[in-house]
Amino acid sequence: MTLPTNRERVASRLRIGSELLYLSRRDVEHLHLTRDAILELTRQALVEHGHRRYEMPAKIGVHPYDNVFYHAMPAYLPGPGIVGMKWIECYPDNPRTFDLPQTTGLLVLNDVDSGVPLAVMDSAWLTAMRTPAVTVLAAAALHPDATTFAMFGCGVQGIEHVRYAALAMPKLETIHVYDTDEAAADALIAKLRPDLDLRIVKGESPEAIVKSAQVLSSATVILRRPLAVVKDEWVTAGQTILPCDLNTFWDPRTAHRADKYLVDSIEEHELFASMGYFPDGLPEVVAETGEVLAGVKPGREHADEIIVNSNIGMAVCDIAVGHAIMHHALEHGVGTRLPL
Ligand SMILES: NC(=O)c1ccc[n+]([C@@H]2O[C@H](COP(=O)([O-])OP(=O)(O)OC[C@H]3O[C@@H](n4cnc5c(N)ncnc54)[C@H](O)[C@@H]3O)[C@@H](O)[C@H]2O)c1
Repeated sequence: MTLPTNRERVASRLRIGSELLYLSRRDVEHLHLTRDAILELTRQALVEHGHRRYEMPAKIGVHPYDNVFYHAMPAYLPGPGIVGMKWIECYPDNPRTFDLPQTTGLLVLNDVDSGVPLAVMDSAWLTAMRTPAVTVLAAAALHPDATTFAMFGCGVQGIEHVRYAALAMPKLETIHVYDTDEAAADALIAKLRPDLDLRIVKGESPEAIVKSAQVLSSATVILRRPLAVVKDEWVTAGQTILPCDLNTFWDPRTAHRADKYLVDSIEEHELFASMGYFPDGLPEVVAETGEVLAGVKPGREHADEIIVNSNIGMAVCDIAVGHAIMHHALEHGVGTRLPL
């Protein structure tokens, strides 16, 4: 028996070419795609990327204000036959100014065979999910025996990073968290402690945390000029650092002197550098995250290597997760059908 193609699966539930499926944030969240499923979808997308089986031009964007960007993130994955684009914005002051998230957006998925749009969905939830999935998949590959993890920034991303770290890093015993807004760190701990079978500790200071954790990640704000909160002299041999806020949080000297500097996409990082986000220059990149996960390039080769792995977010991961959300929604009759 041959399995139905992607198109046949969609066509059995949607009049392709006449209507599209709209999924609100509530629809997407209530589908309850599991974090395990998202880890696997993200891993597969990274492996496809590592083997160069993708088309994904670096994000083009517009920039109405300083430190604000809108990005168009198109991608095509020929293996599973997925094509789509995420359209997102990043307004670092939104939480303070409007009580709105820093990042919102929409994802559009198309039918690869005919090109017509199949679905439009809110992309906040999938961004909140696939970003930590990338961080912890990389962390597990680069530092498999880590018992300590630290998270700087306890907002949307910070909370999910802690959840995903607990899921994907099998030896983890303690997670340190830090936020300039102490209430955010307290809220993260209150929310997650009952669910997670490991210690979650509020760090006294960035320095104390850096001196306590083997693997560290940050999701704070993305700014052109580095805040350099973590001083280079605090970072010691063997640590793995995985920023998802580009070069903002860390002393730029660390990435430059690291034994290995890896990024999810060289093209994306070069683009950000051309926009002034790496005023000290983009460090030399030895590999992309997907290449390590695909086994194409080595990750950690010595216990005492300092490794920095910056993941700024890739559309291949978005469309892979979004595609699964669309199928799930069609199968469960969730969402609103809109005429094309
Ligand atoms: N790499 C990616 O793929 C990706 C995806 C989504 C978001 N992001 C980035 O991640 C960052 C966080 O996003 P979010 O949705 O969690 O935002 P959020 O506003 O929900 O949370 C950010 C948290 O960081 C804290 N913070 C700000 N400056 C800090 C500092 N100097 N030290 C410690 N804590 C600090 C804030 O108090 C807040 O609690 C943003 O920069 C966003 O652009 C990256």
